[in-house]
Amino acid sequence: MRRSLRSAASFLPSKLTLPTLRNAAASCTGCDLYKTATQTVFGEGPARATLLLIGEQPGDQEDVAGHPFVGPAGRVLDKALEEAGIARSDVYVTNAVKHFKWEPQGTRRKHKKPSAAEVAACRPWLEAEIQVLEPRAILCLGVTAAQSVFGKSVRVNELRGRPLPAPLGKTVFVTTHPSAILRGPDPAQREEDYRHFVGDLRLIAEYLQQRR
Ligand code: URA
Repeated sequence: MRRSLRSAASFLPSKLTLPTLRNAAASCTGCDLYKTATQTVFGEGPARATLLLIGEQPGDQEDVAGHPFVGPAGRVLDKALEEAGIARSDVYVTNAVKHFKWEPQGTRRKHKKPSAAEVAACRPWLEAEIQVLEPRAILCLGVTAAQSVFGKSVRVNELRGRPLPAPLGKTVFVTTHPSAILRGPDPAQREEDYRHFVGDLRLIAEYLQQRR
C-alpha cells in the first residue's frame, strides 16, 4: 500500500495573514522534524516587505531563539545586506523548512540537510507567506531554498546573478547561502565568495529600485 505524503497543508489556517500563519505553524506536525526541534521558527519581517528572502532551515541558535538568521550565518547576511544598501528591517526573512534538523555530534547538535520530502512537506507555509506578502522579488539563499521555490533540484551557480521568472509567479533571484561562505577553505576564498554574495544582493537592490 502507498503511504500518503506528509505535508503541512492541513495545518494552514482558513484566514491567511502573517499572524494567523505564525500561530498555526507553531503547532505544525506535518513532518517529523518537530519532534527533535525546540520550536517552529517562522518567517519575520514587515508585511509591506518588497523582498522575501528564503534560507534553508533554522540553525542551532535560531532553533533556541525562535527567530530566523540570528546565528553566524545571520551575521554574514546582515553585514552583506547593509553593504548592498538593503535594510534587513525592510526584508521578510524566512526558511524553506521551519524546524531545525540536526544529528548529535559529541555534545553538539550538527546541522543536517533536510530531505526533499521534508522540503516539500513544509512548502505550504512558504507558499502561504508568498501569497500574503506578495513580494516584488524573492531571493533564494542556497540550493534548498531554490529547490523549494522551483520544485526541483537546481544548481545555484547556473542561476545566480540574474532575475528569473518563477513558478510561484514572482521574480526570483538565487545566490549562495551565507553558511557556504563561512565554510570556505581559507580567508581568501571566503572573502571572494562574500564579495560575490554582496554583488548578487546589489543586483537585487538595483532591480527593486527600478521598480519602486
Ligand atoms: N541558516 C538558514 O538557512 N536559516 C537560518 O535561519 C539560519 C541559518
